[in-house]
Amino acid sequence: MTKSPVLILGARSDIGMAAAHRFAALGHPIQLAARHAETLEPDRADIALRHNVPATLHEFDALATDTHDGFVDGLPALPEIAVSAIGLMGDQETSEHDTAAASVVMRSNYEGPASILALLANRFAERGSGTLVGISSVAGERGRATNYVYGSAKAGFTAFLSGLRNRLAAQGVHVVTVLPGFVATRMTEGMDLPAKLTAQPEEVAIAIARATERKTNTLYVRPVWWLIMAIIRNIPEALFKKMKI
Ligand SMILES: NC(=O)c1ccc[n+]([C@@H]2O[C@H](COP(=O)([O-])OP(=O)(O)OC[C@H]3O[C@@H](n4cnc5c(N)ncnc54)[C@H](OP(=O)(O)O)[C@@H]3O)[C@@H](O)[C@H]2O)c1
Repeated sequence: MTKSPVLILGARSDIGMAAAHRFAALGHPIQLAARHAETLEPDRADIALRHNVPATLHEFDALATDTHDGFVDGLPALPEIAVSAIGLMGDQETSEHDTAAASVVMRSNYEGPASILALLANRFAERGSGTLVGISSVAGERGRATNYVYGSAKAGFTAFLSGLRNRLAAQGVHVVTVLPGFVATRMTEGMDLPAKLTAQPEEVAIAIARATERKTNTLYVRPVWWLIMAIIRNIPEALFKKMKI
């Protein structure tokens, strides 16, 4: 039986590309959407050849929200699953002094991904089926001095996904919120991450595919992150503001 297409938004992302391979290995046609999509031609050809599924490239800029409707219309078919791997860590110190830079971080992690998922949500609801997967972050669970611009945008995105899930539950559309914890990707290159808390993109991809099947609501890729964040969320503010974590 032919499987339904999977759209990967922000397909150059290490996690996004791993998800593309995972869904292709399960037999799904793949739509790769990214800025400068043509540069992903070797990846598209590799997916198509290795997994024997159709794979297509689509130009997509999360920040060009006025193009999103046309982007969805231009897809070869409305996907059954859409994964947003769009994100930008940015530089916290720069964001503290440069409001334009801070705005790009906020829009890349919240407004852009929310805009495209909102459009897809309406199309999925009209059809009466589909799964939206938003990759957010545990950084959104509590603002910290070292990354609160990124974290606050992810907090907004997490709340958006939660509301979308709540709204669409009765319409056959499911929403998965992914909170990956640390992942070894281009975004975290050069950071000294603890091995036990750090997932590989392939591990995240397997967890995402499983979460779409099981209709998981919120996915902590490594469950220990649920515990870590429960502790961090519950530290009293008077104490938290003196801590450097
Ligand atoms: N790595 C981690 O530890 C970690 C932890 C928690 C959450 N996450 C989240 O996981 C997701 C994937 O990140 P990653 O680790 O795989 O890092 P990544 O390789 O840097 O992926 C981020 C992707 O977002 C794309 N993007 C940014 N702005 C965009 C825009 N305006 N339009 C289209 N695409 C845009 C980038 O595209 P370009 O290639 O064109 O720049 C890039 O491919 C992100 O949402 C990230 O916030 C990562």
